[in-house]
Amino acid sequence: MTKFLLAVHVLAAIVAVGPVTVAASMFPPVARKVLAEPEESRHSLALLHRICRGYALVGVVVPVFGLATAKNMGVLGDTWLIVSIALTTLAAVVLGALVLPRQGAILEAVEGGVVGERATVRLAMATGVFNLLWAAVTVLMIVRPGSTTGA
Ligand code: HEM
Repeated sequence: MTKFLLAVHVLAAIVAVGPVTVAASMFPPVARKVLAEPEESRHSLALLHRICRGYALVGVVVPVFGLATAKNMGVLGDTWLIVSIALTTLAAVVLGALVLPRQGAILEAVEGGVVGERATVRLAMATGVFNLLWAAVTVLMIVRPGSTTGA
């Protein structure tokens, strides 16, 4: 059972977090191109935003199955896991409260034909923080400092 839960957890991390990383990272540079190629950029931005929003929802599967795996393995109290849960929560907050709303605001500004350069820089920063957080969690999941189980 643990193997099944872990398989779903890792699969969801790949399938959901991967597309969000790529689409979110592409969003700020495409937003900056909007003056040069208004039509194309507008459509691309809307699509990238939809990918980020949709796959962020699918990404809920990652912590749900992660917690179920941890419960089954009896490692819920381990320090590496508690730190991972905290970092995952922080990543979710950065995505839900900063990245997605800022993308939405830029998308609205683009509809009006204007994009503030500073808005795209702020979005790029938030996106970078999100990417760093989940990359750190992935390393923690593999290294599991202090854990006596597994490799
Ligand atoms: C609430 C958050 C999370 C919990 C409770 C959790 C829990 C777990 C547990 C218990 C394992 C098994 C470790 C072992 O085999 O000893 C695991 C493995 C793994 N997790 Fe998570 N996880 C969480 C978030 C994440 C996130 C955000 C990612 C990446 C986006 C991730 C990626 C992985 C990967 C790649 C493995 C396989 C590591 C390996 O077996 O070498 N996890 N996770």
